[in-house]
Amino acid sequence: MTELLTEGVPPLTTPLDPARYDRFRTGFHAVTGFGQRLLAARLVAVDALPAPGGTVGVEQLRDRFGVLPQYDRLCHALLDILDRAGYLRRAGDRFEVTDRIPEVTGLAADGVAAAEADRLREAYPEVAGYLPLLTTCQARLVEVLDGRVPANEVLFPGGSADLVSAVYRDNVQLDFFNQLCAERVQSHVRQFLQRYPRGYAEVLEVGAGTGGTTGPVLAALGEWADRLRYLYTDVGPVFLRLARRQFGAGRPYLDFARYNVEGSPDDQGFEPHSVDVVLASNVLHATERMASTLVNCHRLLKPGGILVVNEMTRRLDYNTLTFGLAEGWWRYADDEARIPYSPLLDGPGWRAALEQAGFTGVELHGVPVVDPVEQVQSLVVATATGRH
Ligand SMILES: C[S@@+](CC[C@H](N)C(=O)[O-])C[C@H]1O[C@@H](n2cnc3c(N)ncnc32)[C@H](O)[C@@H]1O
Repeated sequence: MTELLTEGVPPLTTPLDPARYDRFRTGFHAVTGFGQRLLAARLVAVDALPAPGGTVGVEQLRDRFGVLPQYDRLCHALLDILDRAGYLRRAGDRFEVTDRIPEVTGLAADGVAAAEADRLREAYPEVAGYLPLLTTCQARLVEVLDGRVPANEVLFPGGSADLVSAVYRDNVQLDFFNQLCAERVQSHVRQFLQRYPRGYAEVLEVGAGTGGTTGPVLAALGEWADRLRYLYTDVGPVFLRLARRQFGAGRPYLDFARYNVEGSPDDQGFEPHSVDVVLASNVLHATERMASTLVNCHRLLKPGGILVVNEMTRRLDYNTLTFGLAEGWWRYADDEARIPYSPLLDGPGWRAALEQAGFTGVELHGVPVVDPVEQVQSLVVATATGRH
């Protein structure tokens, strides 16, 4: 049974192996420490940090490396990581280098970092998929900051998604949340079709991308194939072409369309208030203004329809050190709604933003055994009210 963080809604029952999840959490903690050490080592290796006792600030990084303006927030976030990790100590608006910095000397050398990554891979197989992306991103950090190499070339070398896909493969946490999405969508569709025996359930997935969440959701909806319409959307047309090949065969209820959730559905050919479930997995954080994104989602929904959001709800240094290299990670324009140094919202932040956009009955689901405020990922569900 999942931890139910909201009163009055039946808990979901997607299982999670506690021992496996515990090993995952321990391993992820070790990977995070490695990432922090790699960052410190990389900055020492390029002479960005003075000797212990000296001070550094974002301006020095900016001037020393000609950091692109779009990475200003990333620089602040990186110094914040080193502060929390104990390699720097905040001193006003600058940071003093601590005497722990010699601990990381030499780690930036390729062979040394690779050996440490190998050791972690063996010790913590549950998180092995996180390591190649981390070591690659940290090795190329300065070239990305100063614009010599586009971040996309580091995250998707030669257009390949292998580095990023490795993070998602056999990931106990991500698998659990995808399954949780499937269970929650299924329960709403079941309820709707029982109430309207001649009706069709309409599901619209936003930012479906490579379909990591779509697969489990479609499997959970299989028994209603003849009473279902599933619209697979993304802002990127390439994803739609690939998805048609991957999911299209034998599913006449599945359709594909381009949709940018930052824009009104009316302007993009979608009928307002026509959908029973809007599903958005790991996409909404990437939008510029959460308030208008949520209003757009609300407009798609029938009154009583639900928005199902699968999102990270805590800032993780791992994400800053990897996905943080992508300009898109920092494009949000509503800092007050986000967790500091990240594009993410926490549980209370989601609740407030959803209620502001006209939703009600906000549910927050997380993993069992983890404290509500420590949920790294959450399933957030909210019900649309009237037509506006
Ligand atoms: C991190 S991927 C998540 C993909 C998929 N939902 C999953 O969880 O496996 C984010 C996806 O959101 C899409 N996306 C980003 N901004 C968007 C927007 N404004 N409207 C619609 N889709 C967007 C991207 O093209 C990408 O496919």
